[in-house]
Amino acid sequence: MNATMDDLDRLRGELLASVDQADSPDALEQVRVTALGKKGRITALMKTLGGLDPDARRDMGQRMNAVKDEIAAALTARKSVLDDAALTARLAAERVDVTLPVRPEKPGRIHPTSQTMDEMIAIFAEMGFEVAEGPDIEDDWHNFTALNIPPEHPARQMHDTFYLPDHDGAPMVLRTHTSPVQVRTMVQQKLPIRIVAPGRTYRSDYDMTHTPMFHQIEGLVIDESTHMGHLKGCLVEFCRAYFDIDDLPLRFRPSFFPFTEPSAEVDIGCSRKGGELKLGNYGDWLEILGCGMVHPRVLEMCGIDSSRYQGFAFGMGIERPAMLKYGIPDLRTFFEADLRWLKHYGFVPLAVPSPAFGLNG
Ligand code: PHE
Repeated sequence: MNATMDDLDRLRGELLASVDQADSPDALEQVRVTALGKKGRITALMKTLGGLDPDARRDMGQRMNAVKDEIAAALTARKSVLDDAALTARLAAERVDVTLPVRPEKPGRIHPTSQTMDEMIAIFAEMGFEVAEGPDIEDDWHNFTALNIPPEHPARQMHDTFYLPDHDGAPMVLRTHTSPVQVRTMVQQKLPIRIVAPGRTYRSDYDMTHTPMFHQIEGLVIDESTHMGHLKGCLVEFCRAYFDIDDLPLRFRPSFFPFTEPSAEVDIGCSRKGGELKLGNYGDWLEILGCGMVHPRVLEMCGIDSSRYQGFAFGMGIERPAMLKYGIPDLRTFFEADLRWLKHYGFVPLAVPSPAFGLNG
């Protein structure tokens, strides 16, 4: 039986109506298959064209194609409406209510090492220092040689170094201090330089005050005029801000590091009376960091003209100041990943102390 114009009109009406009624992308796909698929209704109708005489076939064929195009256009338009609606619904369903308070049951804790690093960085940032970084796996040149510690230098023995297999012919180590970041910064950055570099350091050592992995923060200032007075002022300011003790006394004791000249170790005032450690002006001293004026030989090895540029460097542990400030007795506990310890000594997120809101949170 041949299709008539009426059949085509009816089919067009039905199909357009079902396109309009499709209320989901799946339902719409169903309509598409029913209308335009291989066994679809328009396709079936097209197959009846063969039985018409040539004039009627041309006429009917053109109309069928027009209907087919019209249905296809309607499907596309409906699809974009349904897709938009689906996206809007998803956005509404997945919306995050940012005004909700933090869930109190499980806030998690900030590890005292992270907390202390953040506090230290915040204080140095106020003084205009930027943060620099270097790799934990370091080559021997950055960790030792460029810092004026040549092979066979006795200072290498003091570092209890973890040695690694050579890489590209270069001896490799786990960095024993953050001082190689001084070298990397001087080689790479433009002058003047004012950076602090916090990070992990490694030495083969283990007891109540030593762990094979610990953290340090390095400082480096290089320009044409920075001198020992600036070094002292900067570290006095830092220690008083970090420990939150305005009149904390500091003692600069002459010392030796191959990469600084002159070198000093810094002690802070304390009391050990009755076995209890208290910070302040009590006549006793506690060593806290190493520092000095960057050795001209180090500047030269990093490609800096030592007749024009000079500056200071310092390096300090992160965990010891944390133990002192927050009363944590054993260094090893920092790295045992005991959740009970973290719950006791850790810090609540969003209650982070800062110079602006008070260091005691
Ligand atoms: N790198 C030294 C250490 O780990 C500390 C230090 C850094 C001393 C910078 C002087 C200057 O002991």
